[in-house]
Amino acid sequence: MASCAFRPGVSGAALGLVLALGLAVPGSAQDHKKSAAPPAGSTSADPKSAAGNVPAPAGETIKPQAGEQATDAKATEAATGGEAAIPPSLSWSFGGLFGHYDIAQLQRGYQVYKEVCSNCHSMKFVAFRNLAALGYNEGQIKALAATYQVEDGPNDKGEMYKRPGRPSDYFPSPFPNPEAAAAAYGKAPPDMSTLAKARNWERGFPAFILDFFTQSEETEGPSYISAVLQGYTKSDDPKYNIYMPNHKIAMPKPLSDGQVDYTDGTAKTLPQYSKDVAAFLMWAAEPKLEQRKAMGLRVTIFLIVFAVLLFFVKKRIWARVGGDVIIGAREVSDKRVR
Ligand code: HEC
Repeated sequence: MASCAFRPGVSGAALGLVLALGLAVPGSAQDHKKSAAPPAGSTSADPKSAAGNVPAPAGETIKPQAGEQATDAKATEAATGGEAAIPPSLSWSFGGLFGHYDIAQLQRGYQVYKEVCSNCHSMKFVAFRNLAALGYNEGQIKALAATYQVEDGPNDKGEMYKRPGRPSDYFPSPFPNPEAAAAAYGKAPPDMSTLAKARNWERGFPAFILDFFTQSEETEGPSYISAVLQGYTKSDDPKYNIYMPNHKIAMPKPLSDGQVDYTDGTAKTLPQYSKDVAAFLMWAAEPKLEQRKAMGLRVTIFLIVFAVLLFFVKKRIWARVGGDVIIGAREVSDKRVR
């Protein structure tokens, strides 16, 4: 019977699909050393960061607007009052099934992080030596690490002391503790190690079904970060940010056109900076993204081949039996008994 013969093949393929999706689904934070820990730097002062990877700002899921994605910040504001606007989804080189990082973009993003963001934000799960993945050589990384002062100790007098950083050190926090950071800005700047994976939004039915298959969820974090940096839409109110709940942000507008001096000829504009630094933060949060995707693809191909093999094996095994076998049936033809 045709339908019967197909069954193992079909279920094999279905199993393959399920497994492959499982592998490719974003959010496997194990890729990064210790990244399952909550973002640092803000334990007591900032409840949303203290709760770890709580999606969306202030632990609130941003409500969908009739399944549509807002692109015009002003229009969204009128529609939602104090609610955070849904950031526009940008396209990223690392999105999708074959995603990969754009090394030049990561280098620019790192430059923005180093020159601007690192004055307030720590990145305590990323070590200087990890920058080798961005194409820096050992000497460059050593020199770079040495520009930071890292706390070490205690020494033989029992005191902590500062020394120049080494490649094995992690990006230090610019503040001695989260409380000091909160005292300076009203709120502690969250640690950036996992920020790009700790922020997303939901678009509700039916858009979320599409989002699941396109895996756009994976790139929501960087889209959000990029949007926040450009969300200071009221020039008379420096604390106003369209993408934050209640449109209040404790971070002073960190970036403007022309602020960071790119040397590769890339446009020195706010949207460009925002996108580059967001891509860099995605790398920081998931340095093994490319390996994960490549593995997912290999597994999918293997499972497809395996399903085809199973199909032919099944056909062969059942070939001797022929048609339907009805166990317990009275009239069994000669052919079937044989
Ligand atoms: C002057 C200090 C300062 C600088 C510089 C700074 N930030 Fe912040 N940042 C903060 C503070 C404070 C907060 C907490 C804001 C809040 O929760 O209201 C924050 C929060 C954020 C958030 C999180 C919003 C959320 O969802 O909780 C993002 C994203 C962010 N910063 C990105 C950046 C990037 C990227 C840069 C570099 C281009 C940067 N920041 C530079 C102080 C700073």
